[in-house]
Amino acid sequence: MEALEAIQNGAASKPIFSKDSCVVFTVLGASGDLAKKKIFPSLCNLFEKKILPPTCQIIGYARSSLTTKQLADKSNPFMKAKNKDVLSSFWSHVSYVSGTYDTPDGFIKLNEKIEELEKAHGSEKRFRLFYLALPPSVFIPVCTQLKHNCWLASKNKSLGKFTNLFNSECRVIVEKPFGRDLDTSNELSQAITALFNEMEIYRIDHYLGKEMVLNLMILRFGNELFRSVWNRERIACVVITFKEPFGTYGRGGYFDTNGIVRDVMQNHLLQILCLVAMERPVSVDASDIRDEKVKVLKFIKPLDLDDVVLGQYVGNPDGKTEDSKLGYRDDPGVPNDSKTATYACAKLQIDNDRWAGVPFIMKCGKAMNERKAEIRIQFRDTPSDIFGGNCQRNELVIRVQPNEAVYCKMNVKSPGMTFAAEESELNLTYHERFEDIDLPDAYERLILDFILGTQTNFVRTDELAEAWRIFTPLLHKLDAGAKCPVDYPYGSRGVAAADEFIRASGFKFSGTYKWKAEKK
Ligand code: BG6
Repeated sequence: MEALEAIQNGAASKPIFSKDSCVVFTVLGASGDLAKKKIFPSLCNLFEKKILPPTCQIIGYARSSLTTKQLADKSNPFMKAKNKDVLSSFWSHVSYVSGTYDTPDGFIKLNEKIEELEKAHGSEKRFRLFYLALPPSVFIPVCTQLKHNCWLASKNKSLGKFTNLFNSECRVIVEKPFGRDLDTSNELSQAITALFNEMEIYRIDHYLGKEMVLNLMILRFGNELFRSVWNRERIACVVITFKEPFGTYGRGGYFDTNGIVRDVMQNHLLQILCLVAMERPVSVDASDIRDEKVKVLKFIKPLDLDDVVLGQYVGNPDGKTEDSKLGYRDDPGVPNDSKTATYACAKLQIDNDRWAGVPFIMKCGKAMNERKAEIRIQFRDTPSDIFGGNCQRNELVIRVQPNEAVYCKMNVKSPGMTFAAEESELNLTYHERFEDIDLPDAYERLILDFILGTQTNFVRTDELAEAWRIFTPLLHKLDAGAKCPVDYPYGSRGVAAADEFIRASGFKFSGTYKWKAEKK
């Protein structure tokens, strides 16, 4: 509980719940992949660290008829805690209710279960939290059923208006995809905001819960060193990269309807861009930060076909694993003639005073040569280099994963008798600087924020609409087949043309430097 109080004091911007509050956390879609791999393990970690309120109760809800033991057996292989006592103590807080997603019966049962737990707890201060780990096709029916059966006292319907059930506060997390384009996203938002108010809706983008993404605010606004250089006078180019060394095999059906732009770029990478580019918020309150993110998005023009390079991976006959010999279209879930991009590189321009003329490059790909997510801020050339042209551009790199770090590529004097310039770095590698740290998983952090009622790291309705405004014209053209992706081999650096595209956009690649921590 002490840990919780500490976090409340530091992280949450409004009073949360006191020790006697009754918290019931329901995971809808409890038998699915996300629940078993991420949500239950995150809840268990919070439980083990004693951050969850000790009386917090968890309910799994899904269509299958399951026992709690069966639910535990599915999820336990993904738990960090290996101690059997911790696991069994955690699962003793979990119950399970089965029911459909579009009819009232299951939700009435769910409500009875929540009421039973609340009565046993006895407190009048009740928090009903719902995590929708569900496909978008059932978002609206589930939200509607939740609202009518678990959120509002249905018996009050006869009064002609809904009133809040008991003295409770309810919140809901929804998962992406939030629509396919601006119109479908707006429809979804309208349907959800007709049921819940903005303070109750938490749209999760798990990249916002990653340590180094959270770090961006403090790096930028807590260090005077950076304030005066964070602009177009000093910065030549910003590159935000996401690479994964595995393909979409087994997930091809889902992936093919979305593609890499919808899967990663429009959400995870754009959220990072906002945090890199936004102006200083008035405070760290959720509304101040999200106001600034919306403002910077409004300065970005919609993307067109010339602003992107696209790729699709093909099997690599020299690949070391069986998977790598298979191309994207070898997946039985993917149509043989699919033109869906598994790699994309895009250039965005932010037309405001701070950034006009600075290209923001976002690149992301599946089945590439490595796992890496990073933000690279490349500074302008040193004017009149008096060191024989050996000084390369400074770069500030925020390594999101793996091996979380902040390092700055620098020119220094070569050690010894020479007076030549050499590339090196100022290096802050987290696991070296902060020994024995156990960085929480992004889901763990965001679930805690959700429990605490902190909305900062969740996507607001207007922010989402702006994000779709930027991508929708491009996506519609891609959906209509206006640009075909170029093949790249599984396990490669992606599409070669993207290097030229990035260079032509203003990024200088010298090829002479390798980050020391990566050489090891
Ligand atoms: C998800 C995408 O949102 O993020 C996946 O749908 C992707 O395609 C994943 O693999 C990456 O997340 P992480 O945390 O493993 O970098």
